[in-house]
Amino acid sequence: MTILVTGGAGFIGSNFVLDWLAGSEETVVTLDKLTYAGNLQNLASLQGHPKHVFVQGDIGDAALISSLLAQHQPRAVLNFAAESHVDRSISGPGEFIQTNIVGTFHLLESVRAYWGGLAPEAKAAFRFLHVSTDEVYGSLSKTDPAFAETNRYEPNSPYSASKAASDHLVRAYHHTYGLPVLTTNCSNNYGPFHFPEKLIPLIIVNAQAGKPLPVYGDGQQIRDWLYVKDHCSAIRRVLEAGALGETYNVGGWNEKPNLEIVHTVCALLDELKPRADGKPYKEQITYVTDRPGHDRRYAIDAGKIEKDLGWKPAETFDTGIRKTVQWYLDNPEWVANVQSGGYRDWVSKQYGQSA
Ligand code: NAD
Ligand code: DAU
Repeated sequence: MTILVTGGAGFIGSNFVLDWLAGSEETVVTLDKLTYAGNLQNLASLQGHPKHVFVQGDIGDAALISSLLAQHQPRAVLNFAAESHVDRSISGPGEFIQTNIVGTFHLLESVRAYWGGLAPEAKAAFRFLHVSTDEVYGSLSKTDPAFAETNRYEPNSPYSASKAASDHLVRAYHHTYGLPVLTTNCSNNYGPFHFPEKLIPLIIVNAQAGKPLPVYGDGQQIRDWLYVKDHCSAIRRVLEAGALGETYNVGGWNEKPNLEIVHTVCALLDELKPRADGKPYKEQITYVTDRPGHDRRYAIDAGKIEKDLGWKPAETFDTGIRKTVQWYLDNPEWVANVQSGGYRDWVSKQYGQSA
């Protein structure tokens, strides 16, 4: 048996592929375009692994996807591939429309053709799992209840609008063509291999480099944090037992204001790698101009996945954030390569490709 994972060289995708191969005999075909966010070093421990195949390519390349599906005959396709950074979607939305909407459309078309040609048993067992985000639901006030699967879609950024559009396409392919789809809408992830343009890794990396720790606006925006490996376990559970056509919100009931996150990371660094001058890292906090259209609060009601599928996160925020800070301290080479762009040279050295 084989699964096809798109976007598997990114943050969540690479954690998913590594965890999958650690716990299963099934082959994984990883397809990734290797944009700036795709880093084959995340999968370096799989070099030569007999059950892992890496292919560089675009989810929007119908010919490539169709040939991969025909060649590997996966029992499932898991779509992690996306442009994922809200700030980049504000300064340049084009790539978000291209990959998240047009790319997902082409991927769905290729998968529909492949699935339509499967023998009845394989056709019934096949799954298309689409990895999405809580941002499609928009922004909550302090007192609003957390996002349930029944909430109206109210995306506010080009990123979340593009993800919302892809979710709608996935839904439509189920209702119109009967494609066996599953969708997960997860809250903010953190953990190993997180690209240091996102809040938590940026703070860890900038703090050690003696750089400012940029907090947007008043720092009181709230996000709901989940350790990445818990997101991966939720995806495995939905793939295994999710009801066709259903969406599942994934979160760990961990709402925190950004400023508290930054203080927590600073305190952990004070403990694990104190500044040479003995001063606290929080002295590096700098308030900067707010993100345009910044969503004030996200919160996930994970009641459905807990009740219907019996999923629960393994980490609390305290255990997960400590592991995360420790991982960055233990992997200075990964950080240096990402910052210098050296991870791209590594790809061409290892694979003879220009990424
Ligand atoms: P990421 O930016 O770290 O990784 C995205 C990966 O997709 C990269 O490896 C990139 O090279 C690849 N990619 C981009 N365009 C592609 C294309 N056209 N074809 C093939 N590959 C392409 O993102 P992430 O944080 O790992 O997020 C993965 C998925 O999970 C995304 O769909 C995102 O919307 C969703 N999500 C992320 C979070 C989070 O907190 N990071 C939370 C909920 C949902
Ligand atoms: O909610 C799920 C989403 O979480 C995912 O769908 C996205 O792919 C992922 O990037 C993430 O989006 P956010 O915008 O919430 O994540 P980010 O790390 O960019 O920012 C987290 C919060 O911190 C947000 O309120 C903005 C703020 N922030 C961010 C950066 C990069 C700062 O205050 N300073 C910063 O420098």
